[in-house]
Amino acid sequence: MNFGYRRVAAAIFAALALCGCASRQAVPVSSADQATEAPPATSAEISSEIETATAPSETATAPTEETTFVTTDPLDYAFEPLSAKMYSTDTLNVREYPSTEAKIVGQLNPGDEADVVGRTPDGAWYVINFDGSRACVFAEYLSAEQPEEETEQLVIPENYYFADEDDYFFVVNKQIYLPEDYSIETAFVQGSYELEIVAAERCRAMIAAAEKDGIDLKVLSAYRTVEYQRNLFERNVKSRMEDYGMTYDEAVYDVSINIAPPGGSEHNAGLAVDIIDRNHWDTYEEFEDTEEFEWLIGHCTDFGFILRYPKGKEDVTGYIYEPWHYRYVGVKYAKDIMDSGLCLEEYFEQHAQ
Ligand code: DAL
Ligand code: ZN
Repeated sequence: MNFGYRRVAAAIFAALALCGCASRQAVPVSSADQATEAPPATSAEISSEIETATAPSETATAPTEETTFVTTDPLDYAFEPLSAKMYSTDTLNVREYPSTEAKIVGQLNPGDEADVVGRTPDGAWYVINFDGSRACVFAEYLSAEQPEEETEQLVIPENYYFADEDDYFFVVNKQIYLPEDYSIETAFVQGSYELEIVAAERCRAMIAAAEKDGIDLKVLSAYRTVEYQRNLFERNVKSRMEDYGMTYDEAVYDVSINIAPPGGSEHNAGLAVDIIDRNHWDTYEEFEDTEEFEWLIGHCTDFGFILRYPKGKEDVTGYIYEPWHYRYVGVKYAKDIMDSGLCLEEYFEQHAQ
């Protein structure tokens, strides 16, 4: 089961890593590619499709002396004009004219929009406007329905979480949200702050160990419900607009590099804790200059926590440097992650299987 989970998480991560690819590639693809053209068809069907599509004039009665010109130009095919936006349901070859013999001029990926300008009389091919030229795709794989945007959500069987140490090793971020039915058992850490039960126990041990060394750690935030996260996000957008005169877009951007979206926060997972020193009441970057921070950096991995948003990794994590935010990943991985100098996204990509 653990193996299964990690594979799911790894697959999602790999898919996300790939999803930056261009939505339409106007590059020829070899005939050995996997692009879809038609469902398995008999050779008779295929040849009749080619015949109808490429040489409609050949089905006419034999030419007489007076009508001797018969076009053999495959680009001069017949089609009924149409004007529609349609969407590719598969990886689809784009061909010069309506035949599987025709040169491939590009490819549509699942979900790509096609500007349909016609359909061949037999209905088998759509004629599309492709990068300014007329081209054809097999009709069966274009749909008028716009595909729903893919949700990027961890899919994990119920009650699966945290059967063992490895189960804490996963990524939650702006791209990978918690499942909607995510639920955990929590326990208190300090004051009214709670974390997932194992993370809470380790966090309490960490705070106690710090205390023994004369270091007073103050928890400022821990487990948050998704609803709380939503309010937090919205409240901050509002205050940036009202108190700092930002436009809505400016405010949303500024908040989005500081606060995770609802469902996309490690605090929602019950695995993140914000810690500062006793002399402050809010997070602040200069916390990195305190003895509390020094102690945390030196000891957090002993308890399974990592500094989650390090300096220099803002482009990867999508968040500002947060010297106060610690994520429980389990003792097995924590030290190696911190020693690697990678952020969790990078480390996970290299190590998840
Ligand atoms: N501040 C971090 C990104 C969070 O809101 O989860
Ligand atoms: Zn935090």
